[in-house]
Amino acid sequence: HKKLKAFPKNFLWGSASAAYQVEGAHDEDGKGLSVWDNFVRIPGKTFQGTTGDIAVDHYHRYKEDVALMAEMGLKSYRFSIAWTRIFPEGRGEINRKGLKFYTDLVDELLAHDIEPVVTLYHWDLPQALEDEYRGWESRRIIEDFVNYAETLFTAFKGKVKYWVSLNEQNIFTQHGWVLATHPPGKVDMKLFYQVNHHANLANAAVINKFHDMAMPGQIGPSFAYTPNYAIDANPLNVLAAENAEEMLAHFWMDVYCYGEYPIAALSYLKENDLMFETEVSDFELLKSAKPDFLGINYYQTAANAWNPKEGGVTLGKMNTTGVKGSGGEQGIPGLYKRVTNPAVERTNWDWEIDPVGLRIALRRITSRYRIPVMITENGLGEYDKLESGKVHDAYRINYLEAHVKAIKEAMSDGAQVIGYHTWSYTDLLSWLNGYQKRYGFVYVDQDERMEGSLKRIPKDSYYWYKSLIENNGDYL
Ligand code: BG6
Repeated sequence: HKKLKAFPKNFLWGSASAAYQVEGAHDEDGKGLSVWDNFVRIPGKTFQGTTGDIAVDHYHRYKEDVALMAEMGLKSYRFSIAWTRIFPEGRGEINRKGLKFYTDLVDELLAHDIEPVVTLYHWDLPQALEDEYRGWESRRIIEDFVNYAETLFTAFKGKVKYWVSLNEQNIFTQHGWVLATHPPGKVDMKLFYQVNHHANLANAAVINKFHDMAMPGQIGPSFAYTPNYAIDANPLNVLAAENAEEMLAHFWMDVYCYGEYPIAALSYLKENDLMFETEVSDFELLKSAKPDFLGINYYQTAANAWNPKEGGVTLGKMNTTGVKGSGGEQGIPGLYKRVTNPAVERTNWDWEIDPVGLRIALRRITSRYRIPVMITENGLGEYDKLESGKVHDAYRINYLEAHVKAIKEAMSDGAQVIGYHTWSYTDLLSWLNGYQKRYGFVYVDQDERMEGSLKRIPKDSYYWYKSLIENNGDYL
């Protein structure tokens, strides 16, 4: 039995959320509309037509939410800022009331000794920028994103020490430009790679801005890492897993950490007329930006098998629940296909439950990039049931505990992990799954009719996390 190292005393035991999924108040106090405010109104796009107009009303109830965090002993809270509250049109005059909401939230957290971890971009792009130049499809996004970030850096210098630049660039671009399940709802592989190049440049420019401003603290992007396995030791299946790592993981993480695209991926893009346009100075910019940590959102792993070039499974055949845990076969002919892994259990949404995969993820990142990691998301989405005023979510406790143990093991192997943020703190709106798929420590009375009382009720997992934090994970 391996002897495990204790978690450091300053380990950030946290939890997370995103503006659109919790705040509500979608048009209050001068907020502009984001692409999500509009996308959810297209019939058939979200589960039973749910919107974030009200969400779980965190905008009006943040004090109550922070009080529950404090009661729990939470060390850090990761949340995102809605760009459209700061700049309703994406740039221009600061909307003071919008900025005040976040100033009040940050002050409330600090007053309770909770470290704010701020995500600059969690998918809610100002609609004005989409209308003006199609958002991420244009290089103009870089300047506007840097301007927005600089405004927040100035406003929160010294108060907010941890910043996440982009949340899950790999997911919002795959859903937005490959699967058409997120805004702008397109299917265009070439544009998908172009958009990613712009997002990489914007990410790098913001990280450089942060360092140029000598901001006290740290910044990094959050990547949704789904480690790839081979389904067995057949060399072709192993090659398929390598291909999947290059195309689905290194394609982003190498750029964040090395400022370079993986070679095999570029070869594939060139051979298949998918190569994006670049300018010479782009590569200097990508190389110059050094994230202080890599944020990792970890939910599951993926098993891969060889996918023949002729007649192979394609991305287009993917199940609509998306890249993450779609069940069914999906892939790129000639490279890989994702298949069902019989060695692990799955959630009700068909996501692999694989705590060992988190240890593998942390080991791979340490070995390839030698960068500290902040777990910015990890959690279990389930149909929680409120029974006589209680939610007995033992399944969530088991899931989270196994993952925390895996982090402890990876840290004992030598990985540097600075914090762990569960997804999510309160129940919140799942972008595409309404309120039936819940993740929180705190149950919120809200449903697809969006008429719930919004009452907060701590689940069993809330008390479990409280005692884990008190014990600093020593019992594991
Ligand atoms: C991550 C996102 O992709 O996973 C979150 O950063 C999201 O915003 C979470 O809610 C869970 O996904 P889902 O689809 O189960 O809500």
